[in-house]
Amino acid sequence: MNDFGSPKSYYLHTFGCQMNENDSEKLAGILESAGFVESKKRKDADLIIFNTCCVRENAEKKFYGHLGALKNLKIENPDLVIAVCGCMMNQESAAAHILKTYKHVDIIFGNNNQHKFLDMLHRVYTDRRTIYETDAGETTITETVDFKRKYPMKAFVTVMYGCNNFCSYCIVPYVRGRERSRTPEGILAEIGKLASEGCKEIMVLGQNVNSYGKDLTPEITFSDLLDEICKIDGIERIRFLTSHPKDISEQLMKVIASQPKICNHLHLPIQSGSTKVLKEMIRGYTKEQFVEIIKKLKTLNPGIALTTDIIVGFPGETEEDFAQTLEVLETVRFDSAFMFLYSRRTGTPAANREDQVTEDVAMKRFEKLLEVQNYICKEKNDPLLGTTQKVLVESHSKSDKSLFSGRTDSNKVVNFPGNKDLIGKIIDVKIEKVQTWSLEGSVAGGEK
Ligand code: 5AD
Ligand code: SF4
Repeated sequence: MNDFGSPKSYYLHTFGCQMNENDSEKLAGILESAGFVESKKRKDADLIIFNTCCVRENAEKKFYGHLGALKNLKIENPDLVIAVCGCMMNQESAAAHILKTYKHVDIIFGNNNQHKFLDMLHRVYTDRRTIYETDAGETTITETVDFKRKYPMKAFVTVMYGCNNFCSYCIVPYVRGRERSRTPEGILAEIGKLASEGCKEIMVLGQNVNSYGKDLTPEITFSDLLDEICKIDGIERIRFLTSHPKDISEQLMKVIASQPKICNHLHLPIQSGSTKVLKEMIRGYTKEQFVEIIKKLKTLNPGIALTTDIIVGFPGETEEDFAQTLEVLETVRFDSAFMFLYSRRTGTPAANREDQVTEDVAMKRFEKLLEVQNYICKEKNDPLLGTTQKVLVESHSKSDKSLFSGRTDSNKVVNFPGNKDLIGKIIDVKIEKVQTWSLEGSVAGGEK
């Protein structure tokens, strides 16, 4: 039995970034606290939830594909409740489209209305009228719920919501609202609890973590927060996403160097290597300033692994601009890069520009970018051959069930033969094969 009268199961599908995954972990926690149980199969569930993403058109298309497919399920099982939530739902046009075209949807709600989800469910189960609740202006941060985490040994912890940057291509500030920091007390309590439950690695999340704490009284910097997290016994590794180059401080670079628990890895999105394009993107730094930051980082943190995000085909991007991006890749030599084709997002300034790059041209540049970066990825991994790396073991390998999989301090995936007792432990793995996207090895000193 549960609050809803009979045992009910839910199926939750998440689109998009780690922040969305963390939101979904919260939603799953809310549902399980009310007695729902997770269903591994969509078709068996009493409740289906899609947590959406609108950062690029691809994610939206995938979501609509899945949503359309639910129509038949609803015909077969009219008691099925379908809820859609997340970033897309904070766009009035998307919500209106769903209300009009996808009549089988019961609940539509935005990121800021999560804490009202059970109440919405009760209402739907009482009278089957469609509910639409988005409140982009809501700024309350609820600290109460227990998350249902994907892994016991590593966890996402969101420390701030929203973004104030308004990069000219990006929809995030419109759907996630302005920056709001959680209090250090709330964050440290959550991490303390995770540590007491055996969690070893924390991934600190925020759209722009370098602005953490600027909206709090008393003010606290992100580096101060990291220092505090490092004091928590049991937590052995700390990572964080996403840093904005324009806000990165020397204090942060030094904290990475001085705190052994902070992984020697930084994700720093460059987006483009052309100063002209960066200006039009409203990124707040030049190519030269970015390269300077990297130089400083490498001096203060020898051996630091660097990853980035790059957009190709931003409006007005010329061959010369693109050549500059390739040149920066060659100079900085990122360990890996998330590469995206520019996606025109209605409502952002860049979407109104008349000089959009054609798909053909953007695709050709994208392919070239992949080729160059893949080569660099492999080259960055090569020196690891024969070394012994500390690996936090996460699970069976996704591609080969006979292997186990974990990550190095520098966030590289390592696959190796082992046994399930190793899951959750930090072990030494000798690297025996190096590939572009992953490493292979064996447990140093034999299987433990
Ligand atoms: N098109 C393509 N990529 C985008 N990103 C954000 N908005 C867009 C867009 N309109 C990318 C940026 C960002 C990452 C999370 O998504 O590279 O860093
Ligand atoms: Fe989007 Fe820029 Fe904010 Fe990142 S910093 S979420 S790219 S607006």
